[in-house]
Amino acid sequence: MKHKQHLPSKFEEFVPIAAGALGFSILFLFGLSAFVNNLFQPEAGSAHQPMIATTAPHKPAASDSGKNTQNTHDNVAGSTTSKPVAKPPSAIVSIGQILAKGDAKKGAKVAKKCFACHSFDKGGKNKVGPNLYAIVGKNIGTTKGFKYSSAMVKYAGKTGSWKYANLMAFLKKPKSVVKKTKMAFAGLKKEKDLANLIAYLRGNASTPVPLPTH
Ligand code: HEC
Repeated sequence: MKHKQHLPSKFEEFVPIAAGALGFSILFLFGLSAFVNNLFQPEAGSAHQPMIATTAPHKPAASDSGKNTQNTHDNVAGSTTSKPVAKPPSAIVSIGQILAKGDAKKGAKVAKKCFACHSFDKGGKNKVGPNLYAIVGKNIGTTKGFKYSSAMVKYAGKTGSWKYANLMAFLKKPKSVVKKTKMAFAGLKKEKDLANLIAYLRGNASTPVPLPTH
């Protein structure tokens, strides 16, 4: 026998064996899956890889249905636990919403608390504090002839101008915005007073700055 013939003959011997084993395993698998459909499917799939055609359609179906039932359970659990957490957003009110309710006439009364230290008319003189004409939108710490604290000068360099948000925060609690300000005023606790006062400050200008929309 020549060298070349050995290989094919060995191969020929192998083919029927392999085919037989394959056939047997096909029969075996069909029988197996028919008897113990659910229980042995994952094992059959992994142990007999040539059986992809028979096992493949079963496997995804089995795992899909498993996932589906899991998902629906998860969703149910998720929706029940997330309900109490969903409440807080309704409590958030924007500055625009607060200021939209401001009444300038009522604000003029609130401004009396400032009169001891501030004038509000155009070109009014500085008192303990600077003149506050057209303060909304004005550059911080720029009233002529007034000597601001170094804290206010620093804040001015960092922030620029009095916008609705920082002005409101400052009037609510001055020292929380400009820690070492020399404005000796505790602040306005009531949101209504703040909204009314800012409506007054806004109107105390030749061209009032538009209210924020959010
Ligand atoms: C006891 C005096 C006093 C009272 C009352 C007071 N302020 Fe002042 N205010 C000051 C002083 C002093 C400054 C300067 C602060 C600094 O330089 O740190 C100031 C600064 C300010 C500034 C910054 C001005 C700018 O040019 O940047 C605003 C705005 C302001 N006050 C608004 C008010 C308002 C509105 C009220 C009333 C609700 C009020 N203040 C009540 C003394 C007072």
